[in-house]
Amino acid sequence: MLEERLVTLSTPPPSSSASPEANSTVLEIWGGKPLSGQVRVSGAKNAALAIMAGGLLCSGDCRIRNVPSLVDVRRMGAVLRSLGVKLQASGDTIDIDARHIGTERAPYELVSQLRASFFVVGPLVARLGEASVPLPGGCAIGARPVDLHVRGLQAMGADVQIEHGVVRARVPGGRLKGANIYLDYPSVGATETLMMAATLADGETTIENAAQEPEVADLADFCRSMGANISGAGTKTIVIDGVPRLGDTDYAIIPDRIEAGTFLVAAAITRSSLDLYPVIPSHLAAAISKLEAIGMRFTHPGSRTLRITPANGIKAVDIETLPYPGFPTDMQAQFMALLAIADGSSTITETVFENRLRHVAELNRMGANIKVKGNVAIVRGVPFLSGAPVSATDLRASAALVLAGLAAEGKTTISGLQHLDRGYENLEDKLRGIGAKLERVPAVEV
Ligand code: UD1
Repeated sequence: MLEERLVTLSTPPPSSSASPEANSTVLEIWGGKPLSGQVRVSGAKNAALAIMAGGLLCSGDCRIRNVPSLVDVRRMGAVLRSLGVKLQASGDTIDIDARHIGTERAPYELVSQLRASFFVVGPLVARLGEASVPLPGGCAIGARPVDLHVRGLQAMGADVQIEHGVVRARVPGGRLKGANIYLDYPSVGATETLMMAATLADGETTIENAAQEPEVADLADFCRSMGANISGAGTKTIVIDGVPRLGDTDYAIIPDRIEAGTFLVAAAITRSSLDLYPVIPSHLAAAISKLEAIGMRFTHPGSRTLRITPANGIKAVDIETLPYPGFPTDMQAQFMALLAIADGSSTITETVFENRLRHVAELNRMGANIKVKGNVAIVRGVPFLSGAPVSATDLRASAALVLAGLAAEGKTTISGLQHLDRGYENLEDKLRGIGAKLERVPAVEV
């Protein structure tokens, strides 16, 4: 296992897909099986990606624990290696040695596969005084510009040019300067890029209208564990007092609230009771509150264990995605699968990404009755879904199709598994462990 992970981390992934197998296999799910038992929640993907980028800030020994084994994590590993950083993985622990960073240039082939790898721009400028990172481009859910990252770096004194699709940042004098930055939108990535950049800047930086996501707070805690001076992370105002150098750390990342939320919906959609461990319940407040309104009940058998139990039927509710602590866009597709079989009509409004309702067509293929008007989906509950061949359009859409398949009558066959493999560690084993019937099989050529 150790050897396998060392190899996978050191080998850049193939150009356009998660793994060669993901494109040539499909997931078959036989629905209608009740679930029961306990699910172990992995480390948070989005925290892991930002924290791995943050490893570039470290001039000492950097150990990160509770890292999920995911295609996206391997891609971030490949980006770091391409910058000349040494990486070693063992189980869920990654050691990063960024004492010496070989180059400030991140290669397009790698950055284009993982949007989050653009976040290396902040730590690179902070450490080296320059960075050259290709624009990551749009993706299945939206255009995803990086203007807020760029404007923040400029406010800190970087000269930033975008030439031939590459963001080139250079700091005259080599060291960024503290600045007051107001983000027009509380972007998670921009907050993380700028917070990392500010840890090594000269003087104090204030980020106003900062993203409050738990992954931002986790990244701040990680930076603090290396000696950074950060306060207010997790609130709208983050203050960073730059220090000359960051040193050794050994840091465990938080549990994945989106993975946990996905399993909560798995329980709700199959009308089952499940225990999730470990979770930080406050990170799941918006999802829990909607699930209570839908008809589920929650108890805490242990401090980091959350039990979900069906209490009533599945009632319709309205949902609007918002920055944290609002309802997460990363849970929107999964809740749509659940509300597809609710008693009554729900509206789901997507405000964070402009193109994140592509799963509607696939859920409708399974018998759902969902109409889209602009960024609003009107979901009229149907008594049951029926298994069908469907195709995943993005990471969370793929999770929604798995959930729909767990509830549907008959067999659902999901293709496009490269999306699923980006963000869910051992999903199939975890689901089988609680009673689901599913199998990954070779795709039949047509
Ligand atoms: C992160 C998460 C992603 C989640 C999203 C919103 C990671 C690796 N990914 O993505 O799973 O869905 O937060 O919770 O942590 N925007 C701009 N200009 C910018 C930056 C963003 O206009 O410079 C816009 C985006 O296009 C989008 C919105 O802001 O419409 C939110 O994006 P952002 O919060 O930056 O998401 P990410 O950090 O990319």
